[in-house]
Order: sequence, then structure tokens, then C-alpha cells
Amino acid sequence: MKFTHCLTLTLLTLASLSANAQGKYKGEDRGRPVMPVTSNAKWVAECGGCHMAFAPGLLPAASWTKVMNGLDKHFDTDASLPAQDVKEITDYLTKYASNRWSANTSPLRISESVWFKTKHSSSEINPAIWKRESVKSPANCMACHSGADKGDFNERNIRIPK
Ligand code: HEC
Ligand code: HEC
Repeated sequence: MKFTHCLTLTLLTLASLSANAQGKYKGEDRGRPVMPVTSNAKWVAECGGCHMAFAPGLLPAASWTKVMNGLDKHFDTDASLPAQDVKEITDYLTKYASNRWSANTSPLRISESVWFKTKHSSSEINPAIWKRESVKSPANCMACHSGADKGDFNERNIRIPK
């Protein structure tokens, strides 16, 4: 490859990476990565203990801000953290937040978002499945998407548990 071609390619790659980091894919759904390449150790440690660490790209920035501002009353539990950790994790989550909704909503739950309901409608998944002991909650992504903690929601890897 000629040097100039190589340089152009590098610049294009860098441009698409930074566009990605800023979530500049409004309205785009399919193929949009929900897990950024960059991880954050605090987020993994503090948000991955009670449930999997939900990927930043699963909620819009406004939702993450709400979640992070209400950790003392976090879904009937207390998940409070020191202010410095709250800031670091909020920065991480909002930097890589989803932009996939054109609707101006910011639900606290991924499972309350319009796209989630569309993808998991009763025509796709029998409502009785959600009540299974192996599933229990729509928030239990890992029950059906074994790669969910790595941001893998590929349809080929979905297995509905018995
Ligand atoms: C002390 C345990 C605990 C910790 C720590 C914790 N969570 Fe949770 N979280 C919960 C519980 C319980 C639920 C509700 C699960 C359910 O309804 O099945 C929940 C639900 C959620 C949901 C909603 C999922 C959905 O779509 O229904 C999000 C988003 C979330 N947590 C983000 C976070 C983030 C971000 C952190 C780290 C700052 C965190 N959690 C740390 C216990 C915890
Ligand atoms: C009871 C099993 C089950 C649970 C739990 C579940 N899903 Fe799904 N999910 C599915 C099925 C089945 C599909 C495929 C629907 C279809 O055919 O369009 C799907 C599709 C998806 C898709 C679209 C994949 C694509 O390529 O179009 C995403 C993204 C997704 N789920 C994310 C989540 C997240 C995030 C959670 C947890 C908050 C979750 N799911 C919980 C069963 C589940």
C-alpha cells in the first residue's frame, strides 16, 4: 500500500472512531456497537457486581445521568458510591451513551425503552417466558444473550432458556 493511501485510511478510521465515541449515529440501530472499545475499571467493578455491567450504548446519556444521580435509591437497593466514582462512571457512560432513539425519552430501565419493547414484543417472545425461573426479569439479558456482558446481542447467539 502506498503511504498516502495508508494515511488516508488511517485518517478515515480515526474519523469514524471519534464519531462513534461521540455517538453520532442518530437513528441508526442495526450494527451500532453498544459496547465501546474503551472500558472503565470502576464501572466494571461497581456496576458489574449485582448484575452484569450494562453497556453504555444501551441507554441514552440523559438516562445514565438519572441512574447515576439516584444510586442511593437504585431499584429498591442502595448502590451509593463516593462522589468521585459517581463522576468518573457518569462521564464514561454518557460519553459512550446510545443515540439510537429519536424519541425524547430517558427511561431508567433499558427494558422500558421503545426499541427494547419492539425487539422483545409478544410476537417475538411468548410473555410466559419472562416469568420462567431461568429468566425472572427482562433486565436479565444474560439469560438469553450469553454474550450480553460483552455487548453481543447478535440474533445468532440468542438461546431462550428452559
Ligand atoms: C447493590 C446492587 C446493585 C449495584 C451495585 C448496582 N445495581 Fe443496577 N440494579 C440493581 C437491581 C436490584 C436492579 C433491578 C433488576 C431487575 O429489575 O431485575 C438494577 C437495575 C439496573 C438497571 C435497569 C435494568 C433494566 O433495564 O431493567 C440499570 C440501567 C442499572 N441497574 C445500572 C447500574 C449502574 C450504572 C450501576 C453502577 C453505578 C449499578 N446498576 C449498580 C442492583 C444494583
Ligand atoms: C427471554 C429472553 C431475552 C431476554 C431476557 C433479553 N432478550 Fe434481547 N432478544 C431476545 C430475542 C428472542 C431477540 C430477537 C428478537 C427478534 O427476532 O427480532 C432479542 C433481540 C435483542 C436485540 C436486537 C438484536 C438484533 O440483532 O436485532 C437487542 C439489542 C437485545 N435483544 C438486547 C437485550 C438487552 C439489553 C437485554 C437486557 C436488558 C435483553 N435483550 C434481554 C431475547 C431476550
